[in-house]
Amino acid sequence: MPQSQGKPRAFLTRLLPEPAPTILRGAFTLEGNLEDVQLTAAEMRAGVSGARAVVCTLTDRIDGELLDAAGPGLVVVSTCAVGFDNIDVGAASERGVLVATTPDVLTDATAELTWALILAAARRVAEGDRLVREGRFLGWSPSLLLGRELRGRVLGVVGMGRIGRAVAQIAHAFGMQVLYVRRGRAPEPQPMPPGTVWHRASTLDALLAEADVVTLHVPLSNETRHLISRRELALMKPGAILVNAARGPVIDERALVEALAAGRIFAAGLDVYAGEPSLTPGLAELPNVVLLPHLGSATEKTRRRMAEFAAGNAVAAVTGSGVVHAVNAEAVVAAAKQRARELGALGGDGVPFRA
Ligand code: GLV
Repeated sequence: MPQSQGKPRAFLTRLLPEPAPTILRGAFTLEGNLEDVQLTAAEMRAGVSGARAVVCTLTDRIDGELLDAAGPGLVVVSTCAVGFDNIDVGAASERGVLVATTPDVLTDATAELTWALILAAARRVAEGDRLVREGRFLGWSPSLLLGRELRGRVLGVVGMGRIGRAVAQIAHAFGMQVLYVRRGRAPEPQPMPPGTVWHRASTLDALLAEADVVTLHVPLSNETRHLISRRELALMKPGAILVNAARGPVIDERALVEALAAGRIFAAGLDVYAGEPSLTPGLAELPNVVLLPHLGSATEKTRRRMAEFAAGNAVAAVTGSGVVHAVNAEAVVAAAKQRARELGALGGDGVPFRA
């Protein structure tokens, strides 16, 4: 049915939990994939044609080709995630398409999962679990699976955004000092638990040289790809632990495999992978790395809230009711102004839009 005669179309790339489908059905004719399986690129291209909103997940690649397949009526790509490195935001902005995300609601779940990785790596939890299941537990031993204690040690937080801050706050409970690096000159992160002091390291190198546990909380971008590579791993303290619950390509995993195999660092905890879901050769064979299947936000409560947020973003962008959490609102306005200029549509003071 043409959109002028009914509700606009929303294309859902993969089933999201309630209340997302119900919210979307309230404003849209909901089409797409109502199963929890990933669509192929060809299925996506065929499906998005004529959609006003595309509601997707972090496993979907949203590029210029897909945006063109949707056509000029597309208003918003709403992802059920805080990270948006799977979306070509520049291509979306050029086409006047908003890119909306779901920050905040997953902060605590992801921070807690980060601590699960820190503790598991430090105290060899996954190794212990394997040993017991495989019938190799022959009784208590003074030398069995000795790990590292956290109290009094330094937690190095790379990226002090919402999640980095939440991870740092929990460090207080373990008696750890916090050292962090973050971009920009923004004020020191607040709030801090009473009595705690977080130190800002002058550089990433300085943090790596001092931290006993290094945890990554930066978005993936050209600047952060392979942020931790052979050189950085060599700067880490012998016996340090590296944790990644951000995005896989932030670490050069080949270099990490080498460092772990050589015992250069004590252990690693990974929730994300460079070629997700494939693993870098050698990683799965190492005893001193804890591997999780991208579970950062995976609690029932958080996934429900993310889905609701993503659906709400799509509805707000298309109906104008409510707030859209868009990462490219300014760029969309700038692109629209540029188009208007090219069409000779700007008059008066030349500013027909407000950001
Ligand atoms: C999870 O990785 C997210 O970006 O939401």
